[in-house]
Amino acid sequence: MQPFDLTRLLPADHFSQALRHDVQHGLTSEPKWLPPKWFYDARGSDLFEEITRLPEYYPTRAERAILTERAGEIAAASKARTLVELGSGSSEKTRLLLDALHELGTLETYVPVDVSESALTAAGQALAEEYPELTVRAVLSDFTAGPGLPPDGGPRLVAFLGGTLGNLLPPERAEFLTTLRGMVDHGDSLLLGTDLVKDPAVLVAAYDDSAGVTAEFNKNVLNVLNRELAADFDPAAFEHVALWDAEQEWIEMRLRSLRTQTVKIPALDLPVHFEAGEELRTEVSAKFRRERVADELAAAGFRLSRWWTDEAGRFGLSLAEPM
Ligand code: SAH
Ligand code: AVI
Repeated sequence: MQPFDLTRLLPADHFSQALRHDVQHGLTSEPKWLPPKWFYDARGSDLFEEITRLPEYYPTRAERAILTERAGEIAAASKARTLVELGSGSSEKTRLLLDALHELGTLETYVPVDVSESALTAAGQALAEEYPELTVRAVLSDFTAGPGLPPDGGPRLVAFLGGTLGNLLPPERAEFLTTLRGMVDHGDSLLLGTDLVKDPAVLVAAYDDSAGVTAEFNKNVLNVLNRELAADFDPAAFEHVALWDAEQEWIEMRLRSLRTQTVKIPALDLPVHFEAGEELRTEVSAKFRRERVADELAAAGFRLSRWWTDEAGRFGLSLAEPM
């Protein structure tokens, strides 16, 4: 069995400093907001996996269907020696790519990059056992701060699956894609999963499931703040909100305060006042059309070369190359 190793790309205090900065900035803004990357402690990562199995949450199944059909083509087009995956989570769908690249005979190294140490460790250890000839080099990083691409090992295939690009705001997406473009070489490719615009009722149900798992995932960010910053959020004093913004074409998740309350965040010496009914935005999940994907890729210097959807046209998978 090849070794599995985990590298911390950012300075030791990066995450605690970044969380402090985001909470100070976001909870003193009007309206209040937090970046979605803070959902993913060990519990948040487990809850996300539970979400992927919900009947209402179609994106994972739809993307898996595309990958099942197209992994061979993707492998043949990329001829990748290195597969880098940003926001890899459980790396569950990735096995389809690993198998296809293994069959082609090109693959040597898999580099999963994630903010969630628990997800990276569980997935990395399992993959190192399942694929004895594969070197798994996990990278604990924020892909918006350090994408974690190894400098060599080309051709590299950079996979960004699940629709996670849509969790970045439009200017963040532009900056992220441009930075990524600066790090890839000719011969490398980008495999990008994007959820697509569809009936708002289907979208809202996917983010407000009947079992309440997404509500628990959403409220988990409050548990993270309680643990990391000694805050005293009462998750029961907030309700989960998921709504479709037709103008921006994104789902927005919020936490609505059920009463007037002041939460203490001692680590920041910050009291945070909520009016009854006041909402804190915790995530946007942008939904795309093919033209928008192609335009955003082109603006960053990538050419969209292949575009696939599942049979029902719910989810899009793009293969792109640096221009
Ligand atoms: N790619 C998987 C997981 C998607 S969930 C799938 O398609 O099912 C989103 C993943 O991205 C989580 O594992 C989360 O920890 C990670 N993530 C979110 N924001 C991140 C960031 N800024 N940097 C690195 N990883 C991030
Ligand atoms: C990871 N990301 C693409 C998920 C999404 O659908 O935006 C996160 C999620 N939020 C609520 N449910 C799932």
